Amino acid sequence: MEKREQFGSTIGVIAATAGSAIGLGNIWRFPYVTGENGGAAFLLIYIVLMLGIGVPVMLSEMIIGRKSQSNAIGSFKKLVPQSYWWLIGLMGVFASFIILAFYSTVAGWTLHYVYSSVSHNLLGQNYEVFFLDFKDSSLMPVIWHIVFMIFTVFIVLAGVKKGIEKYTKLLMPLLFLLIIILCLRSVTLPGASKGLEFLFRPDFSKIDANAILAALGQAFFSLSIGMGTVITYASYIQKKENLGKIALSVTFADFALALLAGIMIFPAVFAFGIEPSSGPGLVFMTIPSIFEQIPFGNIFAIIFFLLLAIAALTSSISLLEVVVAYAVEELNLKRRSATIISAILATMMGLFCTLSWSTFKNFNINVASDCDLGGTKTMYFFDMMDFMASNILLPLGGMLIVIFVGWKLGKKKAIMELSNENKLKSKLFDLVFFIIKYIAPIAIAFVFLKGINVI
Ligand code: PFF
Repeated sequence: MEKREQFGSTIGVIAATAGSAIGLGNIWRFPYVTGENGGAAFLLIYIVLMLGIGVPVMLSEMIIGRKSQSNAIGSFKKLVPQSYWWLIGLMGVFASFIILAFYSTVAGWTLHYVYSSVSHNLLGQNYEVFFLDFKDSSLMPVIWHIVFMIFTVFIVLAGVKKGIEKYTKLLMPLLFLLIIILCLRSVTLPGASKGLEFLFRPDFSKIDANAILAALGQAFFSLSIGMGTVITYASYIQKKENLGKIALSVTFADFALALLAGIMIFPAVFAFGIEPSSGPGLVFMTIPSIFEQIPFGNIFAIIFFLLLAIAALTSSISLLEVVVAYAVEELNLKRRSATIISAILATMMGLFCTLSWSTFKNFNINVASDCDLGGTKTMYFFDMMDFMASNILLPLGGMLIVIFVGWKLGKKKAIMELSNENKLKSKLFDLVFFIIKYIAPIAIAFVFLKGINVI
């Protein structure tokens, strides 16, 4: 077996874990899901779920990963041999595949936007038409999808330290900076205040059980939890690191970026008369209009979409890493073959997502819409994969993970790991464990069952 690597420094660990968390989920998914679910009230629920459930689930995964020093499946086998708990990890590997499939579709869209801005074909267009024409075609989206997967494989092949740590440390702060510049431009657009009102003045009549499940799913998706990514990354964290500090920093950074993305998008959405509930295309149809309104807009557009693609890359490598770590350690494959085989499988599945609106457009269902009462929306294969992963597999995985730590691993071992064998002292450990054992599983079960209309 190949020797396990470790992250080199605290800042490296935070950068890599935040690199996994921060990605399209913040800048592409958060605004459109918030738009579909009515804005401010959704944002408030999102904050509560992120802190109350997201952080405890993330800590549980860190406990499992670092304690076992193993991958998403192997960790359960190591902690409780001869049992079926490892099936939680298997579900996570399955979820990784599904997310990677539709994630690389959207990442491909961002590459197309980089290319279009470099070749001066983006700014000045009708952006709704531009986006829909591109998404509904078949050749270009597939090419960009494949290009993105090739990049992902390239970095995962380089390994944990050389690949993952190096690329994330530098580029994430740059993305923050650029988004702040875009926020400043967006909030000073004429008509921007309507967008800020949408994002910050809550109207709870827009919230139903579906919306709460969507907020939970978004929190899990955005934090990369509920499927073993954090278990896998935590297995590379050194024993001396403070897990609580890492979890809080990552959650804070992740939330801050989503909020900034909201402040960047919604004023522009209202200023340019776009429907907030436009779905997955929202960001792609809105952001170019902001660039049009700033000097050197085209150069900013190139840098922005490039950074977005890189943010997507630091997340997709973590998705692929879940599968690769499993294949290397449990199936005894070489890292190289494991990476290439899993990437080919994920790319093939991703093609169905990328071609959802063209070749496979007849494969769809109509469901009740979350926003306008009584309306329906069409779900394509892409949307089905997203729904299945974010609103079903991740909450379910998260619930099983906290149940595992709370009821199977137990308080003593969990707190030993959190406190680095009692070297760290905090009164919060007891509270955290209480939430992991009782509050989080019940809350997730309730939101989940209510959201899928079982209770
Ligand atoms: N958290 C990533 C994002 O917000 O873009 C997406 C993601 C990465 C989800 C890794 C799940 C995961 F395991």
